Amino acid sequence: MCGIVGYIGEHQATDVLLNGLEKLEYRGYDSAGIALVTGRGTEQFKVKGRIDALRQRVDGQSQSTMGIGHTRWATHGAPNETNAHPHQSESGRFTLVHNGVIENYQALKEDYLQDVDLVSSTDTEIIVQLVEQISKKHEQTAAAFREAISILEGSYAIAMIDQEDSGTLYVAKNKSPLLIGIGDGFNVVASDAMATLKETDQYVEIEDQEIVFVQRHHVTIEKLDGTLVNRIPYTAEIDMTDIEKGTYPHFMLKEIDEQPIVMRNIINAYQNEHDELRLEPEIREAMTQCDRIYIIACGTSYHAGLVGKTFLEKLARIPIEVHVASEFSYNMPLLSEKPLFIFISQSGETADSRAVLVKVKEMGHQALTITNVSGSTLSREADYTLHLHAGPEIAVASTKAYTAQIAVLAILAVDTATKKDITLGFNPLQELAIAANAMEMLTDQKAVFEDLAEAYLDVSRNAFFIGRGTDYYVALEAALKLKEISYIQAGGFAGGELKHGTIALIEEGTPVIALSTQKHVNYAIRGNVQEVAARGANTMVISTKGLDEETDAFVLPEVHELLTPLVSVVTMQLIAYYAALYRGCDVDKPRNLAKSVTVE
Ligand code: F6R
Repeated sequence: MCGIVGYIGEHQATDVLLNGLEKLEYRGYDSAGIALVTGRGTEQFKVKGRIDALRQRVDGQSQSTMGIGHTRWATHGAPNETNAHPHQSESGRFTLVHNGVIENYQALKEDYLQDVDLVSSTDTEIIVQLVEQISKKHEQTAAAFREAISILEGSYAIAMIDQEDSGTLYVAKNKSPLLIGIGDGFNVVASDAMATLKETDQYVEIEDQEIVFVQRHHVTIEKLDGTLVNRIPYTAEIDMTDIEKGTYPHFMLKEIDEQPIVMRNIINAYQNEHDELRLEPEIREAMTQCDRIYIIACGTSYHAGLVGKTFLEKLARIPIEVHVASEFSYNMPLLSEKPLFIFISQSGETADSRAVLVKVKEMGHQALTITNVSGSTLSREADYTLHLHAGPEIAVASTKAYTAQIAVLAILAVDTATKKDITLGFNPLQELAIAANAMEMLTDQKAVFEDLAEAYLDVSRNAFFIGRGTDYYVALEAALKLKEISYIQAGGFAGGELKHGTIALIEEGTPVIALSTQKHVNYAIRGNVQEVAARGANTMVISTKGLDEETDAFVLPEVHELLTPLVSVVTMQLIAYYAALYRGCDVDKPRNLAKSVTVE
């Protein structure tokens, strides 16, 4: 959600900015812009729509070795050119890009900007106008910038240029991600190392409430009170091939195909030389000392949390509650005496989850984050982190991160059970390896799912997914996947619940896709399929070997019953993918969605 790139150096900034913004496209955006300091002053180029359009708009004559760029996902104000970033102060001296939400922008407007003509409806313009007003009483821009930043409330990642000082990029951060990339003769600023990996693999993290002065050969980090901060750069461990599509038509398909490899990466990462699980002793301790676990997440990660609840309750015998983060922060349930919080987040930056993390840390509770991005905010602010090892996920619709979350939750459950001397009777790593092979068998049969998508969803305006037990949780994820990329109205339901209302929606030809991978509910879900079929539904059953019937559309290879979500979801991801293709949708960048949702 929103992306920032900045460059200061010896080469042309335009290409670095545009290439960087392209790499941030996956985060979701609806307008984009760049600002360059040139011999003609600060030149801005903005468009509503894609970076391609911005490329066309940028004037080839604009030579500059310093600039800032931004992709915007509209929050305050419509997605149009006026509201697109960068924003400029009244005189045109200061130009700024911002991610996040300024909560006190109305108050700042009334207190400082009564006489300023604002041109946009954004909270961001308030910041740049504020810097200009405050700069009138300071000789140094650095002092004005610091003062302006210190009165902002809310979340922000900011990069600013001062036309009268083409040697410095002014940067600040609070609760929104931002990194400084260190180069030889240049430095960059980026929301995500992926944006500027082509330029450098050396990065410095910025912490909340720090400001940074980025110059060609020098980076100065300060706390808001002016104290200098010394921070050593780290090497970003992202492989360029991870962030390129290669021969794939879409990142989503590439990421679906990567799932077996991700499973194997997880097995390698979490086993020791004796083929045993290895988790940090502190995590084991926290897992065994708590009396209840609260899993907090959003969207797909929440669905993974539901599957994780089954593992943790069945294997480790710990009571689990799974909560949608945005609800939990406003409607906190009565907590147990020794709660442990598990945050599941692919990006590690989701604002709704972070709001809960901040609250529970203030209450003195322990927190473990399961994330794909080490160094992300949720990882840094929790007591412990378990890494997903899924590699960068670029498609907005999460696929490999979801299965990685389930695999890591399974490992966590088994490890805790072992620590509690609970006998399981199976080798979890071996079972995960079997599931990885099964996933590969599915991704090798794409044509089957392409045909199923055409047969069931090509012209349909709605679809229902049903299941019981963990199949119900996968049905929720299947429905989310289909609606977010194909825009088909879809819902996931517990099989037994349909007759309590939703069955009223079933009419001739309505697609109902049922999962049957759990022996103890096979008979019951089959009954639910009959109920909707009798009312005209176009039913499709995906079952697992041993539970299959002749009319089933697809039979999944056998895996450990607890791990069936890992394989059944692959069929759902592929069906959603092909349904979206049939409808001509932008699979990797669905409308209105952002990859990393950094606003509440
Ligand atoms: C859907 C999807 C979202 C995310 C949700 C949470 O495909 O990706 O529902 O799962 O926005 O994001 P993270 O996991 O980054 O906290």
